[in-house]
Amino acid sequence: MQTGDSVFASKTRTSGNRAQNRLMVDLPKIPNVITPQGVAMPQMLYGTAWKRERTTMLVTAALAAGFRGIDTACQPKHYAQAAVGAALVDAVERGLSRASLYVQTKFTPLAGHDLVNVPYAAEARPAAQVRQSMETSLAQLQVDYVDALLLHSPLLNETEMAEVWQTMETLCDAGDTRLIGISNCTDLHWFAALFARARIKPAVLQNRFHARTGYDVALRAFCRQHGVVYQSFWTLTANPQLLGHARLRALAARYRRSPAQILFRYLTQMEIVPLTGTQSRLHLREDLEIFDFALTPADIAGLSPLLR
Ligand SMILES: NC(=O)c1ccc[n+]([C@@H]2O[C@H](COP(=O)([O-])OP(=O)(O)OC[C@H]3O[C@@H](n4cnc5c(N)ncnc54)[C@H](OP(=O)(O)O)[C@@H]3O)[C@@H](O)[C@H]2O)c1
Repeated sequence: MQTGDSVFASKTRTSGNRAQNRLMVDLPKIPNVITPQGVAMPQMLYGTAWKRERTTMLVTAALAAGFRGIDTACQPKHYAQAAVGAALVDAVERGLSRASLYVQTKFTPLAGHDLVNVPYAAEARPAAQVRQSMETSLAQLQVDYVDALLLHSPLLNETEMAEVWQTMETLCDAGDTRLIGISNCTDLHWFAALFARARIKPAVLQNRFHARTGYDVALRAFCRQHGVVYQSFWTLTANPQLLGHARLRALAARYRRSPAQILFRYLTQMEIVPLTGTQSRLHLREDLEIFDFALTPADIAGLSPLLR
């Protein structure tokens, strides 16, 4: 717990052992987006992929620093979901309420798993797989409900896709999840068709954010029109040319911020919810500090052509 403990220590303003062991519940938090369904989603989420045995410590550090939104998945190949749950329990014990947290997980279709480590019966019908995955997520995260359940990637088989989505709808009806959504869906027509036929509409679209998909410009316009929150990942990794662009670097110099902070701030002002999975204490703080300043409409207008 080294990084997590040192973050607690540096952020704790009160004295005394007991106080030092508690999270600062009054830390300035990340502003929320309120979805049309009335769910408060922080404008930046902490992503938990690829952290393995460091997961609990890193999620604890993120919560201590002020993050309140956590993205995970029931996909043992990339996410240690039970270790996320341990951090959530610890945070609640230290004074954070469950209601102040936004917890998002995913159902991963069979193709996304190591076949030796599938968190549901691989031979079961898709509906049963979704239900078993949800049960596992609730148990591992040690919560009564999640705020969002995303389908990790679209299923090409239409019958299976319908079965999976309808099962996610029933989980929403049952209160296991407050929102449902989808990830890795870059086809506007496919997404619009899902939106049109779904009884419970996708509330979240989480995509890799990069030039090869044209930064999902048309999909993002659809999301804005229909009240769907667009979340980005790979935001920094996939965009070295954006981060190195003279226009963005000039803004970084003027605002005395890093290029990463300018890009993240730009995206949040464009109503995108970026994910960060940083493992660095400095970057954790810098990622949160984007909410201390705002780009002007002229700055926004200058950056937007770079993402077309
Ligand atoms: N739906 C999906 O299929 C899918 C796929 C991939 C990821 N995700 C989710 O998205 C999350 C984020 O993943 P990601 O792919 O976007 O990558 P990431 O884990 O956020 O890592 C991005 C890189 O950015 C660096 N970084 C973060 N903040 C920075 C800052 N302020 N300045 C400079 N560098 C900074 C990190 O380095 P440091 O660690 O050194 O800061 C890291 O090298 C994952 O944890 C997961 O929850 C979802």
